[in-house]
Amino acid sequence: MPLHHIVEAQQFDRPTLVDLFARAADMEPIARSGGCACYPNAIMATLFYEPSTRTRFSFETAMHRLGGRVISTENAAEFSSVSKGETLEDTVRILNGYADVIVLRHYEVGAALRASRVSRVPIINAGDGVGQHPTQALLDLYTIEKEIGHIDGLRIAMVGDLAQGRTVRSLAYLLGKFRDVHMWFVAPPRLKMKEDILAYLGQHGVLCTEESSLEAVLPRVDVVYQTRIQKERFGDRIADYEQCRGLYVINQDTLRLMGPGAIVMHPLPRVGEIAPEVDSDPRAAYFRQAENGLYVRMALLSAVLGEPANA
Ligand code: CP
Repeated sequence: MPLHHIVEAQQFDRPTLVDLFARAADMEPIARSGGCACYPNAIMATLFYEPSTRTRFSFETAMHRLGGRVISTENAAEFSSVSKGETLEDTVRILNGYADVIVLRHYEVGAALRASRVSRVPIINAGDGVGQHPTQALLDLYTIEKEIGHIDGLRIAMVGDLAQGRTVRSLAYLLGKFRDVHMWFVAPPRLKMKEDILAYLGQHGVLCTEESSLEAVLPRVDVVYQTRIQKERFGDRIADYEQCRGLYVINQDTLRLMGPGAIVMHPLPRVGEIAPEVDSDPRAAYFRQAENGLYVRMALLSAVLGEPANA
């Protein structure tokens, strides 16, 4: 499975996904038993210009569990020489001299692609503004396969901020690779799924339905993929944000409408769109989903770093 830069979800074909998910499954017992000494000389740089809990910590844990080392800046805009005016390209060129792989989160769409154009070592896109978050989509798909047992024929509702949500955009691109998928989009009018994704899904034979009622969709799906209304993407449009938030909530009442084998997913963080009372229901898959991020990111790192030292 030759992988180098990981920039967008579309770059993955089905054989690569099969290989990656088998590798992630192999990583589960390795991680649970404390890790391996597979990459003792490898160094991963995490270069984050936006806040993160799951993505940064899971990538860093993944590298530690694989026996490698980590150099990191969690607030690159302030704590790196970007604050002195250095460009992203120059920062990446410099890190090429220090690290074997760079995990980049940036606030600009296309930042990972720009970085990849000047980088000899693999660039992994950990989220580029409202663009994409391909490694999140990979762990989402891994979770769906583990929990539901299949991806072909999947019925999934994407809920919340679909216009500015990079996780749903990347997941939609990946689901476009599978057969007989039916997607429902449930979003406030201002936050509907964008035309580029709808066109891509249409070209790839995915059945898409826009629906304003969450209650109407819940009994019909295998997966509810809930998302946060992202206040930080509204800037000073506070009134628009207030109009959008709180419209679609998973709680005990809405959960009752879902099938017994269906699951609730969320990339997290959540801020009220899934009530805490849902957490104890076995269909609440979002914490298992976040844990899967570790295994999938271990698999991705091993794929871009090549054969381990003790293979
Ligand atoms: N899902 C996700 O990207 O979470 P973080 O922003 O905490 O990394």
